[in-house]
Amino acid sequence: MKTPRTHTSNSGLRGEYQAAAADYTVAQDWHVYSPEMHARWRHLYARQSALVERYACRSFREGLARLDCAGGIPRFEHANAALGGATGWRLVAVPGFIPDDVFFDHLAHRRFPVTRWLREEHELDYLVEPDVFHDFFGHVPMLFDPAIADFLELYGKAGARAMAMGALEMLARIYWYTIEFGLVREQGGLKVFGAGIISSASETIYAIDDPQVLRLPFDPVRIMRTGYRIDSFQKTYFVLESLPQLIGGLVGLDFGPIYETWRHAPALPAGECLPGETPIPVHGACA
Ligand SMILES: [Fe+2]
Repeated sequence: MKTPRTHTSNSGLRGEYQAAAADYTVAQDWHVYSPEMHARWRHLYARQSALVERYACRSFREGLARLDCAGGIPRFEHANAALGGATGWRLVAVPGFIPDDVFFDHLAHRRFPVTRWLREEHELDYLVEPDVFHDFFGHVPMLFDPAIADFLELYGKAGARAMAMGALEMLARIYWYTIEFGLVREQGGLKVFGAGIISSASETIYAIDDPQVLRLPFDPVRIMRTGYRIDSFQKTYFVLESLPQLIGGLVGLDFGPIYETWRHAPALPAGECLPGETPIPVHGACA
């Protein structure tokens, strides 16, 4: 899933792996961003931040406010100054996708890899891989939340075992259905905390408001067994009762036997309930 790939673009930053260190980090080279790129960032920011108040969870809103990044592509060092004192996380710039083992090692040491290039104008609505807007706007606000901060470190530390057991796909589904596409119950409604949702205008509304969407209670084993879509909106979203449930639901689970039991089983299709499961109704959505 995170295989290095090479791209070219006008920015000269996209997929520039030659300059990367052994851990795939690069300098952000903030001075390389053009006025047009900053303007594109402001456009993306304005569009998404208009949805944040209604659709994003409180931690996201508070984290975003602390980043003060409405005016242009932010400097990672400025975010690091705020993050370090809050949860001890630090952003590192990367050229694009990085290998799984490197990604896990960064997370295990509270370093969050942020892609340094910005999508082109024709990619405003759809992008096949993360860029700086997805990574920064979508992920970094949640790094201020202690539960998310602790979970991501644990996730990084869990990576080596999953890889050794041939169960990487199962572990990756946990990240996908929470950090990327997670919902959380808050103040009687549902809110977004997943970066893949909150960095997409249309999926933000769809995930919360669409009555056809299957929303299931957070269940780590169920999640590890459930396939996901990379080419369309998700067919299933999992809902936390609170952000601390993310760690509470995982600590104490012995992943080894779970991997052994399910790693060779076909994935459960997204968008389908199992017998006995009760979907969360749409009237439980955003207040
Ligand atoms: Fe992401």
